[in-house]
Amino acid sequence: MKTIIEPFKIKSVEQIRFTTEEERKKIIEDAGFNPFLIHAEDVLIDLLTDSGTSAMSSDQWAGIMRGDESYAGAKSFYTFENAVRKITGDKFIIPTHQGRAAEKIIFSILGGPGKHFASNTFFDTTRANVEFSGSEAHDFLCEIGKHPEQRAPFKGDMDIEALDAFIKKYGKENIPLVVLTVTNNSGGGQPVSMKNIREVKEVCKKYGIPLFLDACRFAENAYFIKLREEGYSKKSVLEIVQEMFSYADGSTMSAKKDALVNIGGWLSLNDDELAMKCRNLLIVTEGFTTYGGLAGRDLEAIAQGLEEVVDEHYLQYRIRSTEYLGEKLINAGVPIIEPPGGHAIYIDAKRFLPHIKPEEYPGQSIVCELYVEGGIRAVEIGSVMFGKYDNNGKLIPSIMELVRLAIPRRVYTQSHVDYVAEVVIEVFKNRDKLKGYKIIYEAPMLRHFTAKFKPV
Ligand code: F0G
Repeated sequence: MKTIIEPFKIKSVEQIRFTTEEERKKIIEDAGFNPFLIHAEDVLIDLLTDSGTSAMSSDQWAGIMRGDESYAGAKSFYTFENAVRKITGDKFIIPTHQGRAAEKIIFSILGGPGKHFASNTFFDTTRANVEFSGSEAHDFLCEIGKHPEQRAPFKGDMDIEALDAFIKKYGKENIPLVVLTVTNNSGGGQPVSMKNIREVKEVCKKYGIPLFLDACRFAENAYFIKLREEGYSKKSVLEIVQEMFSYADGSTMSAKKDALVNIGGWLSLNDDELAMKCRNLLIVTEGFTTYGGLAGRDLEAIAQGLEEVVDEHYLQYRIRSTEYLGEKLINAGVPIIEPPGGHAIYIDAKRFLPHIKPEEYPGQSIVCELYVEGGIRAVEIGSVMFGKYDNNGKLIPSIMELVRLAIPRRVYTQSHVDYVAEVVIEVFKNRDKLKGYKIIYEAPMLRHFTAKFKPV
């Protein structure tokens, strides 16, 4: 097979600013060894997130000019509504400014003290919105999904038996919703199979509980189904997407991922009474029902992005470029979550730096070194992000110590990816010299964003 090429030409470019290793040593030190506190222009390749970092197409930019900025009933809203309905099939399409705004609305209405929600794995903001309402969030990831070094096609699947047992334990009347996150971001960007979506739906149906998709990376998930699940290789991605959504009663979406835009989201659903409550809350917190915190031009860009994201040349390039980076790292012996996920490579910091204990944050050490070595910005997803303290102030580490290299959509070329692999491999070769870190400042909540560190 010939090389899989970027399925686009570049019309507009953004200059990258080069820095020297000496400069980067000072920059990371001044930032308290926390890459969140570095100015973006000091970063050479930014793999902090795939959220809101997509390059838009010329057709999306044309949509930006077409945007109808009428307060109510804008033409752009109906274009958006049709595009979202084409994939979700849902009756009510409610625009929001990003994913967490949709989450806030649905969980404020369905949640509250004494309620329980289940997912394969809740993403942090989704969990935070469940907990903020006073409810509890429970994860039921399948067993294989918990083993970074073991390969399986659908490591994002939910554990069906555990879900059933959970519903029996807490009572269906206390469980307003089950959420499937596709792909499973916190679990390594791993896909959920159609079989699993169907089975989760069956359990939900048995107890009369609605099922929602946290649909951020729905197209990447669908493409994995096409590649890996029996009976889907000949179906179009759009057909697979439509089948995935057909089992769900609604969705929350961050358009900043698989709608290929820099801002936006939605809440979609079918229940008339619930939709009315959601729209009323939307008007209080986001905006009127036909713009929901967005400009008309944003709605146009999302509608166009949804057409482009299900294009199979795009998805082949997208999934292959992540896999390509993963393969280069695996071949050099770098431990990562296998197989590579859709939107990111997750380095297993525990196996990368066995000499640094969780209390000294091995993931943070890798993140700092990637920046110094090659100007790459990544994010620690381990004990800095998820660690808690016991009553004696001792760290309760996270189960996994990971570093995420998230790939922005349509932004970097193959030589950028080659460069990233070279830098990671260089850091891996010098791993014995890496040292741990201690935290010298931290906020009481979501400490990873603002914490400051010192090498030990
Ligand atoms: N759900 C999932 C699975 C996500 O990955 C995100 C965001 C959200 C919900 C929230 O969407 O940011 O538009 O409010 N993930 C980003 C990331 C921030 O870097 O993984 P949002």
